[in-house]
Amino acid sequence: MNEREPVTKPSVSQIGASAPSGATEATSASSTNPALLLENVSCWYGGFRAVREVSLAIPRNKVTALIGPSGCGKSTLLRSINRMNDLVPGFRMEGEIAFEGTSVHSRATDVIDLRRRVGMVFQKPNPFPKSIFENVAFGLRLLGETTGIDALVEESLRAAALWDEVKDKLDQPGLSLSGGQQQRLCIARAIAIRPEVILMDEPCSALDPKSTLQIEELMRKLIRDYTIVIVTHNMQQAARASDYTVFLTMGDDRAGYVVEQGETGKIFTAPQQQLTADYVSGRFG
Ligand SMILES: Nc1ncnc2c1ncn2[C@@H]1O[C@H](COP(=O)(O)OP(=O)(O)O)[C@@H](O)[C@H]1O
Ligand SMILES: [Mg+2]
Repeated sequence: MNEREPVTKPSVSQIGASAPSGATEATSASSTNPALLLENVSCWYGGFRAVREVSLAIPRNKVTALIGPSGCGKSTLLRSINRMNDLVPGFRMEGEIAFEGTSVHSRATDVIDLRRRVGMVFQKPNPFPKSIFENVAFGLRLLGETTGIDALVEESLRAAALWDEVKDKLDQPGLSLSGGQQQRLCIARAIAIRPEVILMDEPCSALDPKSTLQIEELMRKLIRDYTIVIVTHNMQQAARASDYTVFLTMGDDRAGYVVEQGETGKIFTAPQQQLTADYVSGRFG
């Protein structure tokens, strides 16, 4: 579905070689050719360091979950990937984030193009005050697409598992849908412009359990075509829906750091670190 550019060699060294002791499967399973490679990423808001030296590899066509207590920098890290934090005054990042082998901060990287290729779905469904159809067509129109819009809108709504529920009312406002439908509409809107990666920041936290399960099912289907990174503080969701899990926590200085990462099954059933065991068993966080 995606037209991928020829894969270039990552410009930063492979994480596997320099990973901290907590790093396990997520890195080794993907270090051959991950979609995203973060190396020693630190983030500051003014003088406050929110994220400390995070290194991880995000495997292609998998769901990677970022979990950890509130305030440990999950959203900050996620928004650094497609440079959404550039918009925050005082924000600064050190380290390297490579997307398909090119630094997101490289001069060769066009931020608009980066955000097209690395889309985002937010915590609260945020349809535009437009019709269902125009919500999905929005990005296509922005990109100057004039032909085939009907077909692309339908395809995106189908991919987001929403088509059957809205096909007879495409002219109605996106905001008239239920919360769960609105979130699937936002996913359809994200998909319409053919990203390669979809970043999701707690996409189900405003949804009921049934809609939550629908979104999780949808994620499992979407990874055939996309790479997904999801922030969640719902342990069950991470366990059910992700392939790899990255557990972050905060140090005494409140900077978030990675405690452990690996295959989701292992993180939840046989964590290597006591902090991880405490967190996934609900003893802390
Ligand atoms: N725009 C901002 N300006 C200043 N500090 C921020 C901003 N956004 C987040 N922070 C701080 O950075 C830390 C990490 O926040 P965040 O990434 O939102 O954590 P999480 O998503 O894990 O809850 C927190 O201490 C938070 O208060
Ligand atoms: Mg957050």
